[in-house]
Amino acid sequence: MKSRILIIGACGQIGTELTAALRKRFGTDKVVASDIREGDEAMMAGGHFELLDATDYNAVEDVIFSYKVDTVYLMAAMLSAIAEKFPSKAWDLNMNSLFHVLNLAKEGKVRKVFWPSSIAVFGETTPSTNTPQTTVMEPSTVYGISKQTGERWCEYYHNKYGIDVRSIRYPGLISYTTEPGGGTTDYAVDIYHRALKHGEYRCFLQEGTTLPMMYMDDAIRATIGIMDADPADVKIRSSYNLAGVSYAPEEVVESIQKHLPDFKIAYEPDFRQAIADSWPQSIDDSMAQKDWGWSHEFDLDAITEIMLNNLKSRYA
Ligand code: SER
Repeated sequence: MKSRILIIGACGQIGTELTAALRKRFGTDKVVASDIREGDEAMMAGGHFELLDATDYNAVEDVIFSYKVDTVYLMAAMLSAIAEKFPSKAWDLNMNSLFHVLNLAKEGKVRKVFWPSSIAVFGETTPSTNTPQTTVMEPSTVYGISKQTGERWCEYYHNKYGIDVRSIRYPGLISYTTEPGGGTTDYAVDIYHRALKHGEYRCFLQEGTTLPMMYMDDAIRATIGIMDADPADVKIRSSYNLAGVSYAPEEVVESIQKHLPDFKIAYEPDFRQAIADSWPQSIDDSMAQKDWGWSHEFDLDAITEIMLNNLKSRYA
């Protein structure tokens, strides 16, 4: 019987923690981690691992076949800031990997799919506070365009072919295990590392840049939550709005200064400022709350405490 879970992009910021959570929940034999590169020791020693290029259809199909995979979490993607530097490579990775998995589902080789979307699907013309589930969406970044397009295809494959694909629009995610790579919200992770290591941080976003954020444990709970939900309750098959906390860099500074009073910040905005400015400040996630019982747990001070406590030993 096909019953294994495949995580594609298991060594990334979300994939690392998702793999650990799924291994813990279902047992190591049930979970197959994969990525284009090897992961850390916990990843490699903790269960099945395959080197896998998400854009290689045959390779993805082979792993699904040989491990009897039933469910795929497709976490491989090029994030917003780096995608601006490599537009066609980002499009290729973000779109083709999704098509491969959706087509494998269409052929009956996979039963269930999780695919992450992002607040990057929104743009300057979107109402920026309490952004509704259904609203104007004119993303201005390569990453945002790929995520919005992906949402349309997920809904299409669900409506047309009955594919059980589920998705959430992640806000910026904060975690200490694996660092994010190439995103616009990365400052909100970097800042804790720098605070401990150097006592100061040069922020690539301007003061006052409020963005939706979330602690990783909440994001993992949401991911597993939507995948656990009864299919009939997952009414939105493009992607659900998801909210945690919203804050600007100076609020992180204040929160850090409660633990490290001498911590200093300097603002040196770069090209990522325009990306951040095009994204919402806060998200209305009432549909996720109503349809599959979502609610977030961690606020900014709780996140700061966890981040500093867990990163402390690294820079001692
Ligand atoms: N955190 C992502 C980024 O900054 C948004 O999905 O690109």
